[in-house]
Amino acid sequence: MQIKKAVFPVAGLGTNFLPATKASPKEMMPIVDMPLIQYAVNEAVAAGITELIFVTNNRKHAIENHFDSDFELEARLIECGKFELLQLVHDILPSGVTCAYIRQKSPLGLGDAILCAKQFVGNEPFAVLLADDLIENDGKSCLQQMLDVFEKNHSSIVAVQKVEQKDATKYGIVDAVDRNNKVSLIRGIIEKPSLENAPSDLAVVGRYILTPEIFTLLEQTSKGLHEEIQITDAIAKLLLEQSVFSLQFQGKRFDCGTKLGYVKATVAYALKHPEVAQDFRQVLQKYIVCSFS
Ligand code: UTP
Repeated sequence: MQIKKAVFPVAGLGTNFLPATKASPKEMMPIVDMPLIQYAVNEAVAAGITELIFVTNNRKHAIENHFDSDFELEARLIECGKFELLQLVHDILPSGVTCAYIRQKSPLGLGDAILCAKQFVGNEPFAVLLADDLIENDGKSCLQQMLDVFEKNHSSIVAVQKVEQKDATKYGIVDAVDRNNKVSLIRGIIEKPSLENAPSDLAVVGRYILTPEIFTLLEQTSKGLHEEIQITDAIAKLLLEQSVFSLQFQGKRFDCGTKLGYVKATVAYALKHPEVAQDFRQVLQKYIVCSFS
């Protein structure tokens, strides 16, 4: 079975970036010249996803507009003869890819946001991508690596990466049966454990493949940490019923939900952006020389 649907939960408050996110969605913040959400959408589309399901709220219209046509802008670009830019805005999504938007009534957590997509997903496995986890890869994207694993085992998969032990308290942490293997069955998962309770140093990052049974479990999941419905708690129930795997993916992840992660991503992407890379490298060198002299 091929996975064709991906859910993009974008209904969080983005408080880490206030005041920038007071009136603009966090997911629309650009890394150089492309918004975070578009990096995630591009990753999904390149991996063969054709139905994009956005879980939004009343403050996220910019995301809908971004993936819609803008006739006025296109007409202006034609008038000005800016055909490269025209193509850029016209081809935001390839033909055959559709978008659906559903609102999360209040920010009750990632688990609740994913549950909002139930009616659009139906009874089939689906992907979840969190746009604030930007994952750079020179080869296969993180989602593509997960889909390759799914093709073999037809089970839910969470993307994980090793973190320093002291940082385990910031993530969902998995108890992997075989920690030394890239792909491993997991026998436990816990959201932001205390240092003593962390079962490993393998932290869940924002890419999931989930089987549809997760929806019933989410409906049965009550508010957990921070008074939110945690997807981690529902996955902990899922693995009692069916196999759930973790994948230590290849690629560099930037946590663009934090200021430092966002700045790091901007620097890394600017250093390889065809238009600015060369000049930016020199600017950066000057800054470094100035700040250490
Ligand atoms: P985060 O907790 O990292 O995002 O959720 P946030 O709440 O927007 O950020 P801060 O902590 O206040 O700065 C991860 C992803 O899940 C979505 C967010 O939009 C983000 O993409 N999310 C989170 C929802 O869609 N609904 C929620 O209730 C919570």
